[in-house]
Amino acid sequence: MKKVGIIGVGEYLPQKILTNADLEKMVDTSDEWITTRTGIKQRRIAAKGEAVSDLAVKSAKAALEDAGIAAHDIDLIIVATITPDMQFPSVACLVQDALSAGNAVCFDISAACAGFVYAIDVASQFIARGASKNALVIGAEILSSVTDWQDRSTCVLFGDGAGAAVLSEVKSGGILATYLGSDGSMADLLKVPAGGSRMPATDKTVQSRMHYIKMRGNELFKKAVNAMAKAAQAVVNKAGLKCQDIDLVIPHQANVRIISAVAKKLGLDENKIYLNIEKYGNMSSASTATALCEAVKEGRIKKGDVVLLDAFGAGLVWGACVIKW
Ligand code: COA
Repeated sequence: MKKVGIIGVGEYLPQKILTNADLEKMVDTSDEWITTRTGIKQRRIAAKGEAVSDLAVKSAKAALEDAGIAAHDIDLIIVATITPDMQFPSVACLVQDALSAGNAVCFDISAACAGFVYAIDVASQFIARGASKNALVIGAEILSSVTDWQDRSTCVLFGDGAGAAVLSEVKSGGILATYLGSDGSMADLLKVPAGGSRMPATDKTVQSRMHYIKMRGNELFKKAVNAMAKAAQAVVNKAGLKCQDIDLVIPHQANVRIISAVAKKLGLDENKIYLNIEKYGNMSSASTATALCEAVKEGRIKKGDVVLLDAFGAGLVWGACVIKW
């Protein structure tokens, strides 16, 4: 099996910033509540008419440039998203067209906030067994399109953005281990009930706000902590390492209190945890993707460092990945 690594990263965040102060004018909430309960100060919101593929393409172009790879050399595009432009075709196909990446096989992955980690795992398997040479993996979301702006328990949490990575064969290091898990018995904890084949769109589904995110946050909190800690421990063991060997952790950015609880469970120094939740909120699959990109650009990840990606989301799904840079 070939060694596979990340050879370029990129991101794109929409221009518009929605602060906690802005939200105070929209629902019964406060900057103090949002900051202390979640760690979020502001989030980005896509412009009217901007779709997920638009964000994905911009992040992809940045990643291709960073990798020094031309679009026609990409032979696999995987987009992790739960907010595609439309039900079909896939966002990956729309990205392919916009990039003129005519040689790529394209599909989307629905694994919510763990989507970017799932997509890295799938792409690395394509490359490891020789089915692809250069893969473009993107986590892109416009969660503002499925956010109920009248529901204070969810609308303060989410944001929009996209992050991308180019995966190729590497001579040394690369992805040392991956670990994925799912539990469909908890599907009810976090979902958008309408708009699919179970509950197609009708006047009634629109009026009853069933096209928006419904979340049982309190119940999810514990599940998130346990699943992320379990996934991190499992993947580190699989890589033949100890948690202390990790130089930087890129966790999913749902809540700073979840991340702290995971770090405590694993005995990890909080200085080794990368956070961008304060600026962007929870962007589902785009959270780990943008955090990885920013950590590289800020010099927090250097050659030879061991990086842990650790994510959890609706499904329920969780996934972790150890990469030697
Ligand atoms: N502003 C002010 N008060 C709010 C509020 C807001 N935006 N949202 C909820 N509240 C209130 C609630 O009504 C409740 O009031 P009550 O005690 O009078 O009933 C109180 O705050 C506590 O609500 P609760 O839901 O228990 O808060 P919490 O501490 O659990 O925090 C979340 C809520 C959503 C931030 C937290 O549960 C969470 O992060 N959950 C996990 C999210 C997650 O992992 N998602 C999956 C991956 S994407």
